[in-house]
Amino acid sequence: MATSFSSTSSSSSSAIASLVCVCLLSLLLGHGILRVEASHKVYRHLQSSESLADSSADQPYRTAYHFQPPKNWMNDPNGPMIYKGLYHLFYQWNPKGAVWGNIVWAHSTSKDLVNWIPHEPAIYPSQPADMNGTWSGSATILPNGTPVILYTGINPANQQVQNIAFPKKASDPYLIEWVKTPKNPLMAPTASNMINASSFRDPTTAWVGPDGRWRVIIGSKRGRRGMAILYRSKDFIHWVKAQHPLHSAPNTGMWECPDFFPVSTVSPLGLDTSSNGPRVKHVLKVSLDDTRKEYYTIGTYDPSKKDVYTPDAGSVEGDLGLRFDYGKFYASKTFFDSAKNRRILWGWINESSSVEDDIKKGWSGLQAVPRVIWLDKSGKQLVQWPVMELEKLRTGRVDVPSKLLRGGSKFEVSGFTASQADVELSFEVKNLDKAEKFDPSWVKAQDLCTQKTATVKGGIGPFGIMALASKGLEEYTAIFFRIFKGTNNKYVVAMCSDQTKSSLNNSTDKANYGAFLDVDPAKEKLSLRTLIDRSIVESFGGEGKGCITARVYPTKAIGDGAHLYAFNYGAGDVLISSFSAWSMKKAQIN
Ligand SMILES: *[C@@H]1O[C@H](CO)[C@@H](O)[C@H](O)[C@H]1NC(C)=O
Ligand SMILES: *[C@@H]1O[C@H](CO)[C@@H](O)[C@H](O)[C@H]1NC(C)=O
Ligand SMILES: *[C@@H]1O[C@H](CO)[C@@H](O)[C@H](O)[C@H]1NC(C)=O
Ligand SMILES: *[C@@H]1O[C@H](CO)[C@@H](O)[C@H](O)[C@H]1NC(C)=O
Ligand SMILES: *[C@@H]1O[C@H](CO)[C@@H](O)[C@H](O)[C@H]1NC(C)=O
Repeated sequence: MATSFSSTSSSSSSAIASLVCVCLLSLLLGHGILRVEASHKVYRHLQSSESLADSSADQPYRTAYHFQPPKNWMNDPNGPMIYKGLYHLFYQWNPKGAVWGNIVWAHSTSKDLVNWIPHEPAIYPSQPADMNGTWSGSATILPNGTPVILYTGINPANQQVQNIAFPKKASDPYLIEWVKTPKNPLMAPTASNMINASSFRDPTTAWVGPDGRWRVIIGSKRGRRGMAILYRSKDFIHWVKAQHPLHSAPNTGMWECPDFFPVSTVSPLGLDTSSNGPRVKHVLKVSLDDTRKEYYTIGTYDPSKKDVYTPDAGSVEGDLGLRFDYGKFYASKTFFDSAKNRRILWGWINESSSVEDDIKKGWSGLQAVPRVIWLDKSGKQLVQWPVMELEKLRTGRVDVPSKLLRGGSKFEVSGFTASQADVELSFEVKNLDKAEKFDPSWVKAQDLCTQKTATVKGGIGPFGIMALASKGLEEYTAIFFRIFKGTNNKYVVAMCSDQTKSSLNNSTDKANYGAFLDVDPAKEKLSLRTLIDRSIVESFGGEGKGCITARVYPTKAIGDGAHLYAFNYGAGDVLISSFSAWSMKKAQIN
């Protein structure tokens, strides 16, 4: 990283000349016109990777409908937005290899969130404020309709600072070229502001308060206290740090990639990030650098008084808190889709294979499918569902008629491409007498799912599906439910994703994942939707109340060798009340 970024002029050993352009750009901000002089160096050696051809199309673990670059390393989704009817996704990308490093903002656009076309990287090191790195950030659509990006730059002293970038031509719906201002950085650690220069990153989408001032938060920590530092601005250029953070929590460590957004208490429709009012709650999500897990809280935000966010009473902060996804999912970020009035969530799914394997296959990292996210009727958690556009990839529907699945039985569902599929089913349990007593020491569903894998017989459950299963079941990834008797005549429902048998290859991470579902099996159906995409098993339980994403690397359950089974290894019978499976067509991705 150091060598590639330290050569900033044509005198560098690299034969490729850097191109310098100075652009003038007018920006309508607030009440006046602000002129920003943008100087912009183009680093050809970072932009031109020999071939963007998809050389790895035949690899069994490359996905068919999940977002991924043609090659190399990808991590955080950045600056998602819709502009002039086009969806934009930027992402942290290494132009030079399948491991983290040399990070630039790669860029793709889409008309439907399913098929994507690639563009040249949009943001890359080009000025002192980002010479050593262009890290994560977010887009904000200004009141005049123009987007701007705030992102973290690494300066030559290796300090984390916050910078701005503007579209060079706002008339271009593809927003191909981005320019920066020499005023960067706009926010930086100083001798007096107490900010740790190694722990100050990932600005959110900004929002406006009732006083007309912009606000943005940046992830940070002080000691072991994670915090979201709050800045305010009248013109989006001059930012002043607030005395207090928007929110902080002890013993959580560094907060990466905070996301702060409003949700409606009366409708699943999404809200613009600046919305507030009586029927609005707020959500704060953070990604914990120490444990590489995310959590969120739901609470209230009053920008006119203290300008702090207060999680609802009983909120759990840290690894035991609520999660968007209880499997592989990190550095997530939402945006408001003003075309369809919904809030959409992106999240990075990393590999479970070794670095050596990543280098061998030439790529690492995927994005989960874009999901609509809204507040559950209970007000206690969020709910997610894959964007409906994804359903146009469905083909060759297979239905299983309603049927009783007796304890200890299984059957295969065939007639579709089991390695690349969308499966939706629901269960009803008429008789819950056989449910075992819930052991309250299972604080984390993951512990329960690690102890009680798919083959461990229970009272009610495990019942569910075995995805990416080989014919002889040497390999499978099982997604299933278990129902227990809790206290006060309530039932406890656990949803598990069991990877212990996902691959005969011993070099991959096979951790199991779990989530408790707020569903009453005595009154409601238990639904499951699973998106299977070669090396991804992305599951939505309880109509989106519990999401679990797994990465798996089967050696036999590849292509035609992949099968799907429904199973019930509990003592009690369960009814499959609906079951549909589709093959999924390949999307055009980058
Ligand atoms: C960037 O960081 C490295 C250390 O990681 C340092 O040696 C170098 O001087 C920094 N500056 C530039 C411009 O590369
Ligand atoms: C600042 O953050 C870095 C990175 O986590 C940490 O190593 C360092 O101890 C922190 N410094 C202070 C003064 O807290
Ligand atoms: C990525 O995967 C590895 C192993 O599967 C895990 O240990 C690591 O914490 C993961 N997450 C992130 C966000 O890096
Ligand atoms: C499986 O195992 C072998 C040997 O341990 C390794 O070389 C190969 O790349 C592995 N990984 C995957 C994901 O197939
Ligand atoms: C993987 O581990 C199992 C159990 O330890 C062993 O029986 C099997 O031979 C190993 N497979 C490979 C390919 O090394």
